Amino acid sequence: MKSLFDLTGRTILVTGGSRGIGFAMGAALARHGATVVLNGRNEAKLEDKARELRAEGLEAETAVFDVNNEAAARSAMDKIVNKHGHLFGLINNAGIQHRSPILAFTTADFERVVSTNLTSCFTLSREAIALMSEHGSGRIINTVSMLGSQARPTVPAYIAAKEGLRALTRALAVEAGPKGILVNAIAPGYIATEMNNALITDKKFSDWIVSKTPLQRWGEPHELGGGAIYLMSEAGAFVNGHVLAIDGGMSVQV
Ligand SMILES: NC(=O)c1ccc[n+]([C@@H]2O[C@H](COP(=O)([O-])OP(=O)(O)OC[C@H]3O[C@@H](n4cnc5c(N)ncnc54)[C@H](OP(=O)(O)O)[C@@H]3O)[C@@H](O)[C@H]2O)c1
Repeated sequence: MKSLFDLTGRTILVTGGSRGIGFAMGAALARHGATVVLNGRNEAKLEDKARELRAEGLEAETAVFDVNNEAAARSAMDKIVNKHGHLFGLINNAGIQHRSPILAFTTADFERVVSTNLTSCFTLSREAIALMSEHGSGRIINTVSMLGSQARPTVPAYIAAKEGLRALTRALAVEAGPKGILVNAIAPGYIATEMNNALITDKKFSDWIVSKTPLQRWGEPHELGGGAIYLMSEAGAFVNGHVLAIDGGMSVQV
């Protein structure tokens, strides 16, 4: 019997797939049979990571584009459809952070963060929904954050963008659902990736994160893989508009 989590035949584009959470989700999906297309802006780094997966005998390709470049994103998705017949899944995972006290936080920096972390997810989702609709099936996962419903100082653009992305997840879930396209989100807690290097090396902050997390540690990128498999597989066939927290319990601790 075919496993509920088998992804064979499903081609899935993962933005921000060259490292951290995106690569870990892509690797997990590929290990469950998917053909993954890893996206990022650095061709050499992406190729290295795809080669790493192919060395395991997995199906991994690359699509080099900036998620803020609408034409390049559309062309990459068209290429996937031309080659594989169907873009089954999209993970809007590419994201950036900008930390600054509010009085030094420029409008340009605010807009840069919102563009990458929210607007690009709208654009790519719209294009993906157009392509997926032709098959009457598809899945989109947005990587949101615990930050949004909860807040910290110095990251207002990130918080606004991620909370906007949660709202966009609901909006797309209700509009694309009737077309057979399921739209959900994954909300990681504090995960040890390059994005958080400055926080990990700040012992006081790092200890505070550990003390606020019931599992008493930072999360590891590979721990996001299971959630991505679930939401891309038959196991998640009736899950739509959901935000899956993967945060060691941090978001429910008083
Ligand atoms: N780490 C955490 O604790 C945490 C918690 C909650 C949510 N998240 C979210 O999870 C996602 C991944 O985070 P991460 O920690 O894995 O970050 P990361 O290690 O910094 O990786 C970010 C990825 O996004 C890509 N990227 C950035 N800007 C891009 C653009 N304009 N176009 C295409 N690709 C772009 C990067 O590749 P290139 O720079 O080579 O293009 C890289 O692959 C982000 O959305 C982040 O907000 C992370």
